[in-house]
Amino acid sequence: MTGVRLAVLVSGTGTLLQALVAEDLPIVVVVAARPCRGLEIAADHPGAAELVDRRAFGGFGDEFDRDAFTRRVVEVLGHHDVELVVMAGFGTVLTAPVHAAYDGRILNTHPALLPAFPGWHAVEDALAAGVTVTGCTVHLATLDMDAGPILAQQEVAVLSGDTAATLHERIKEVERQLYPRAIRLYMASLTTQRSPI
Ligand code: GRF
Repeated sequence: MTGVRLAVLVSGTGTLLQALVAEDLPIVVVVAARPCRGLEIAADHPGAAELVDRRAFGGFGDEFDRDAFTRRVVEVLGHHDVELVVMAGFGTVLTAPVHAAYDGRILNTHPALLPAFPGWHAVEDALAAGVTVTGCTVHLATLDMDAGPILAQQEVAVLSGDTAATLHERIKEVERQLYPRAIRLYMASLTTQRSPI
């Protein structure tokens, strides 16, 4: 495997992960926050599959120890000598330790045209606002959620009769094309940075 060592963080259905795998990106590890389809996809891939189970860190309520969970994720990434972290439907906001360890090296894709409609309900919020065009955004993840520098965006039309599910599926079709391309470009920029003069 050549290129920048990639980690993909998942916690859902993993269709984006599947697209990244199909594009033959140099994924050395997939980290899941809970047992999920993404983890099963990872198990069929030559890279490692690691479960950092939220339930071992207090689960999904007030008891969740977000810092301890984040530190464990960073530890796992370190074990695999990861250079670039790619979030692909990862439902947990990570805290400062991951940004300290991977500053400028965490990518995310968001199902709206940021800065419009940040947050967990981007597709529903776009529909509720009555916009005729939404889309997706690949951006650098920073401590502030959905607010990091934008790397790529693509529009998706809202169709009459769209539900959140139909619209999100069309957005994800675009993300499955755009995200691998944006990741490759970003990887190339990192490789250029580390080349000897
Ligand atoms: C994508 O729409 C992404 O923007 C959002 O989560 C979705 C992941 O889809 N953060 P999947 O779980 O890979 O199908």
